[in-house]
Amino acid sequence: MRILFLTHSFNSLSQRLHVELRNRGHNVSVEFDINDDTAIEAVDLFQPDLIVAPFLKRAIPELIWRNHVCLVVHPGIPGDRGPSSLDWAILASGSGWGVTVLQANEVMDGGAIWAFCEFPMRQASKASLYRNEVTEAAVAAVLEAVGKFEAGDVAPEPLDYARENIRGTLRPLMKQSDRAIDWASDRSDIVLRKIRAADGFPGVVDTLFGREVYLYDARPEFRLRGRPGDVIARCGPAICRATTDGAIWIGHLRDKDSEHPFKLPATRVLQNEVATLPESRGYEEIRYTEQSGAGYLYFDFYNGAMSTRQCRMLLDAYRDARTRDTKVIVLMGGTDFWSNGMHLNLIEAASSPADESWRNINAINDLAYEIITTDNQLVVSALQGNAGAGGVFLARAADYVWSREGVILNPHYKDMGNLYGSEYWTYLLPRYTGTQHARQISQARLPMGSAEAMKLGLVDAAFEACHGKFLESTLIRARALAGADRYDELLARKWARRMMDEEQKPLTLYRDQELESMRMNFYGFDPSYHVARYNFVYKVAKSRTPLTIAAHRSLSSRPPRRMVQ
Ligand code: COA
Repeated sequence: MRILFLTHSFNSLSQRLHVELRNRGHNVSVEFDINDDTAIEAVDLFQPDLIVAPFLKRAIPELIWRNHVCLVVHPGIPGDRGPSSLDWAILASGSGWGVTVLQANEVMDGGAIWAFCEFPMRQASKASLYRNEVTEAAVAAVLEAVGKFEAGDVAPEPLDYARENIRGTLRPLMKQSDRAIDWASDRSDIVLRKIRAADGFPGVVDTLFGREVYLYDARPEFRLRGRPGDVIARCGPAICRATTDGAIWIGHLRDKDSEHPFKLPATRVLQNEVATLPESRGYEEIRYTEQSGAGYLYFDFYNGAMSTRQCRMLLDAYRDARTRDTKVIVLMGGTDFWSNGMHLNLIEAASSPADESWRNINAINDLAYEIITTDNQLVVSALQGNAGAGGVFLARAADYVWSREGVILNPHYKDMGNLYGSEYWTYLLPRYTGTQHARQISQARLPMGSAEAMKLGLVDAAFEACHGKFLESTLIRARALAGADRYDELLARKWARRMMDEEQKPLTLYRDQELESMRMNFYGFDPSYHVARYNFVYKVAKSRTPLTIAAHRSLSSRPPRRMVQ
């Protein structure tokens, strides 16, 4: 079928649905919901059989929903309506939640129900629930709804609050007054819930050292105590604030009235205020464990962004892991993201973004180099979560890449103002995928599912959709690799191949050539990278849909024109 996505942006959920529906042979095109005219024009150009709205912030124009079936993905259980569904669900702390696919009509979120899927609630941020449970449930519900629509013999069920299975209600937009933390009375679990219900957007407004800031990235603290509301310690990017029954860590803040009004590490936003606070443990970004001959390096960096400091810390931790008596090192990344490459927010906030970009890319390259040249262990990248741009190539620096099913990769840099990219991608991509696939991957600029990534050689194995099961299977596979009869042969073969590659073209040459192009991106006359980074960090809304995903806007793929009636 011809399926048009009408969506506010091509976010992770839209990307995943794009991958799943294309895998099932559908012709999918994407239009950003910018205004009624462009949406109507897109429908007119593409002539879709079905419209899917994975992520909308406004109502679909009547001219469209009256003439086409439009399936809206709503992150709530049947009957739930309103713009703050997940926020209310997290704050209420219920045991389960869900996703409903309903047909657009004149009542916002009030259309007939095509499918729904429920999931157990996890104590996590809204963004994390959205990227994991909501996305998995949305995929299941959309595929069911699309199947029913295609079969043509099942009608959707009208929303009827008298029915027993309709448990949701209409809820208003959650306001900052609903989110406000009362430090004098709120317990840690309540503070955590309030911050998580607003993370990644909009954050909870609060006052710290007399400044109004938005709070994000909260974690519990189990030992430290203090006067409720006081900031009592710091650890890496995070500050620790006492509550009535303990304390919590806050990793990121946004001060919209400051020179850099976007999300940054808390200790960076409050660098003067917290300079003399005691350093403590409690918000570790990097963790190392060992089991059955394998070392596991976890690096849970907020939003998968890797700053110069974080890359250097990770390089130190990796070097330590190399000195251990293990046979395999598994690079675990974080739960939500494996890596999204350079830390664009910190680069934007630097006194010289070009210099900070240079430092950051060199710090990632140093890490990639250490991984590629590991001669004493086999190295695995285990992707629990998505990876983008340089993060994908950093993962490919390992000998094996294992991915959780459902992970989405964006193995391209060009969307960031034609950034050339580094991380030895010019070596790694042809080495693992072959020259033809390498060209295809770097030109396509499309999200890729784990199955396609495996076919192309970006990923070696994809297994288990569920996080817990992926972790279990990763441990089993790593243990098997460490104990394999052929271990010595595998290690010798890997190193022989590396030596041969080095003889043909040294790694330093790849790096120098990539960095030559990156130097032009950072310091050259063309400001595209700096403009694109600014737009990304400041979340400037796109004024049109990129042609890479809006197939209907490229002349060759247009069907004969027919007006929307
Ligand atoms: N640096 C800083 N923040 C980053 C980041 C990066 N490299 N990559 C993602 N983020 C942040 C986003 O700003 C967003 O922040 P929020 O918490 O305020 O919402 C959050 O991570 C999630 O990203 P989002 O873009 O909403 O996720 P997505 O799943 O829709 O898209 C990517 C994933 C990877 C396609 C997209 O985030 C991206 O293009 N990132 C930049 C990659 C890049 O160019 N890196 C530099 C070159 S190596």
